[in-house]
Formats: sequence, structure tokens, C-alpha cells
Amino acid sequence: MGSQDSPSIDSKVQNKLLARARAAANLAYVPYSGFPVGAAVLAADGSIHTGCNIENASYGLTICAERVAATAAVSSGHRQIIAVAVSAPKVARTTPCGACRQFLNEFRPDSSDLVIILDDRESGEPVFLDELLPQAFGPRNLDAAPQPVEGSSMPKKETHGG
Ligand code: THU
Repeated sequence: MGSQDSPSIDSKVQNKLLARARAAANLAYVPYSGFPVGAAVLAADGSIHTGCNIENASYGLTICAERVAATAAVSSGHRQIIAVAVSAPKVARTTPCGACRQFLNEFRPDSSDLVIILDDRESGEPVFLDELLPQAFGPRNLDAAPQPVEGSSMPKKETHGG
């Protein structure tokens, strides 16, 4: 359980996000997995930013649809993600991977939870980031940390012969 409010997304907005996520999945570059995914992020000002998964011959450099959509939003100046719809045409109710949950957590709104709308092939199933990533580590944990005292975290420079 989180301490933040659990918001609900207007059904029209939810449908729009789902439609944009489904459309984004059509652009996925997935020559290795053959598993397309699309995501659509709702920013605090109501704007929508989309992404698809983009794979790479080195495999490990693959980036998921959710992170592509989140980076599109953030690089357009948005720091608060209200909701994200995720659509994988091959498997209904695909949930964001662990790395994407952590990445999305960075941009969750200040006073409410982040809604994740899973494409269930119907009107979408909303779940909350708190459910998928309980007790998350995020920016506020660093705010609470004491600032390092100057010179205390680095070993003293050794002096040789002089
Ligand atoms: N993938 C996503 O884009 N989002 C997820 O939440 C799960 C996995 C991608 C990564 C890879 O391109 C393919 O799906 C198979 O794992």
C-alpha cells in the first residue's frame, strides 16, 4: 500500500491512450523477439507521448516501449507522468518489465499514484504503479539522505616522499 491517492482516468482519455499505444505497437522494431509493444504516456498537461520497443543486434541495448514513451515525454519538457497505456498485440495484459517500472517511478506525480492501463483487448485494465512496484526506491529517498560532508567520502590522497 502506498500513501498516495489512487487516481482514476476518464474513460475517454483511457480509450485515447489505448488507441495511441496500439498504434505505436505497429512501429515496433522487433526483428529478434517478434514481440511488438506500444506505449502511450499521459503527461500532466494532457499531452500524449508514444513509444514502441526498439531492439538491437547486440540484444542488451534493446529498449522497451514504455521507456521510449517516457523519454519522449521528458525530452518534450514533461516531468510528471499521470498514466501510461501498454499494448502488446501478441499477449493481452502485458505488464511493464521491472526496469520500466523503476523508470516510470522516477516521473510519478507528486501527490498521486501513476496509472498503468493494460491492453486487455477491451476497454483496458487500469492498475497502479504501487501495486507493480511496492515500496519503490525513488527521488524522495535521495532527498532524505544527509548530504555528504566535504572530503568525507573520498580516501585521503597518499603522499609519496614529500
Ligand atoms: N518489452 C517491452 O517493450 N515492454 C515490456 O514491458 C516488456 C518487454 C519488449 C522488449 C523486447 O523488445 C520484447 O518486448 C520482448 O521482451
